[in-house]
Amino acid sequence: MAKTSHKKQIKIKDFLKQSSAQYSKVSDFNKIRYLMTRRDKVILLALLFATFILSILETFAISIIMPFITFASNPDMIFANQISNKIYNFFDFKNTLDFMIAFSGILLVFYVFRAIYNIAYSYCLNRFAFRKYHFFAYRLFCKATELSYLDFTNKNADIIRRNIVTEAMQASHFIQQLLMMGAEVVTIVLMYILLLIISWKMTIVLTIILAVNVFLITQTISKVIQKQGILQAELGEQFLKIITKTLGNFKIIKLKGEQQNVLKAFDEASSRRVGTQITSQTLAPLPKFILETIGFCILIAAVAYILIKYNNAAAVIPIISMYALALYRILPAVNRILQNYNMSRYYKRSLEIIYEDLIYHTEYEDNKPIDFKNKIELKNIEFEYMENKPIIKDFNLTINKGDKIAFVGKSGAGKSTLIDLIIGIYKPKSGVIEIDGVKLDNSNLRSWRKKIGYIPQSVFLFDGNVAENIVLGDKIDKQKIIEVCKKANIWDFLEQNDGINTIVGDGGIKLSGGQKQRIAIARALYSEPEILVLDEATSALDNETESKIMDEIYDVAEGKTLLIIAHRLSTIERCEKIIEVNN
Ligand SMILES: Nc1ncnc2c1ncn2[C@@H]1O[C@H](COP(=O)(O)OP(=O)(O)OP(=O)(O)O)[C@@H](O)[C@H]1O
Ligand SMILES: [Mg+2]
Repeated sequence: MAKTSHKKQIKIKDFLKQSSAQYSKVSDFNKIRYLMTRRDKVILLALLFATFILSILETFAISIIMPFITFASNPDMIFANQISNKIYNFFDFKNTLDFMIAFSGILLVFYVFRAIYNIAYSYCLNRFAFRKYHFFAYRLFCKATELSYLDFTNKNADIIRRNIVTEAMQASHFIQQLLMMGAEVVTIVLMYILLLIISWKMTIVLTIILAVNVFLITQTISKVIQKQGILQAELGEQFLKIITKTLGNFKIIKLKGEQQNVLKAFDEASSRRVGTQITSQTLAPLPKFILETIGFCILIAAVAYILIKYNNAAAVIPIISMYALALYRILPAVNRILQNYNMSRYYKRSLEIIYEDLIYHTEYEDNKPIDFKNKIELKNIEFEYMENKPIIKDFNLTINKGDKIAFVGKSGAGKSTLIDLIIGIYKPKSGVIEIDGVKLDNSNLRSWRKKIGYIPQSVFLFDGNVAENIVLGDKIDKQKIIEVCKKANIWDFLEQNDGINTIVGDGGIKLSGGQKQRIAIARALYSEPEILVLDEATSALDNETESKIMDEIYDVAEGKTLLIIAHRLSTIERCEKIIEVNN
């Protein structure tokens, strides 16, 4: 077992490599552009502008404190400083106390405004990022429902689920990290301008040191973090698969007593997944410590050097304090950029995943009305699941309205496949299906499917009551539900319980196999279909119940078209045509 799961892991890795190689041609920038609507782009520009304002406010908030304290402790400084002197004269203040009172008032208003601005700003930022999550999840879900059935069978439900729940969230985190990075870049540019004005030499030295560091960090730590991001997507998939596998085969796994293996597999996937978080969250702020350590080491070394060489610190104190100030202001911003950058590397894989899902081609199927008054014709139908392995070839069949047709044949012969072609779940590779001479294609498939009541081989009921399971998203009409339940021979049972409010349990676990099957029959009848399709629908029932239900079905199918796949002869003895399917 360990071997197979290991093999599977390798397969997943190969798949990941392939898929990322395939799409890496498209740059992150273009992916984001594809994932943004026009409105998003406008909001983004507005946010960038808001960020610019925010940086100015923040810079001002920090730099205004110094003069305030200076003036408070030494009012004469008001006249010594050019700007404050001008302001003093312009407003014609009577004394320095009045000036200081006005100054305090303005500062107070300014700080309140700054706080409100900050809150509003972070609301807008969060709103944008989380609305993006909603948008991604919604679009992924739409895309999943648009998949053709064949594509759906080739995908894994756990991956679809993971992408909608986790990857969409992380892709929105990716965008959030980029936004925050953008905000910091604006802040840094502003501070750089300030620093350049103060001392360009200092600025260049600082730039070189920072650039070298940033380069080294992005080349090492960021790459490790990005790998962790890829790994977490892969482990997230394994994690969900183990849960699905266990909960879906609960009884069998219990019987096998294999819980130990399952627990071990879960333990491994879960703890490794958490491990990627531990690594990435630990590494992400590492640049902060590296940069700070290097920055302050240089500061100390510079002080020591100057002390030794000039033996007089007083002369260089202004330069050193400027340098310290620069470190103090620019370093945190650079740190935050690196941290955002690193986290965005971690979430990058999620962006790729949802991009791949969203650009996946699905055909648009339309609702053009289609009439079925006379016949369904299958002409030269060919169908295959795998290239050059046709399941159905050169198949011709005419079904007249009102026909009761049985399909028989060995297991795996292709009966279900054939029925799925007729009901528009699969599309033929070649040949046509015509309804009263009108070709079945993407323009009318949806309205064709609506005419069909389908009762499958295995039924999936979701955790809810009988009524919800029967209407399956349609409007609840209690009377009609009771009526179809009676027709499906399940009403007697339901009456003894909660009627149409009887809870079926997850997957219908609280019902017997036959009861589930009868709910499925009621479900099919509820939409008043023109064509009833039974794919071994009654195979789970005992002879007596089955013949009762078949009586009912033949009754409700009066005047309707009935297509039945069954093994028991008694089920199909009333069919006018029997078609033997063998590949
Ligand atoms: N999604 C799929 N992808 C690939 N092969 C498939 C798929 N579904 C069915 N097949 C293959 O197509 C063949 C026909 O399957 P089908 O379900 O139509 O048989 P059937 O006659 O309904 O059998 P049964 O009586 O056991 O239900 C089988 O060999 C099966 O392995
Ligand atoms: Mg079948």
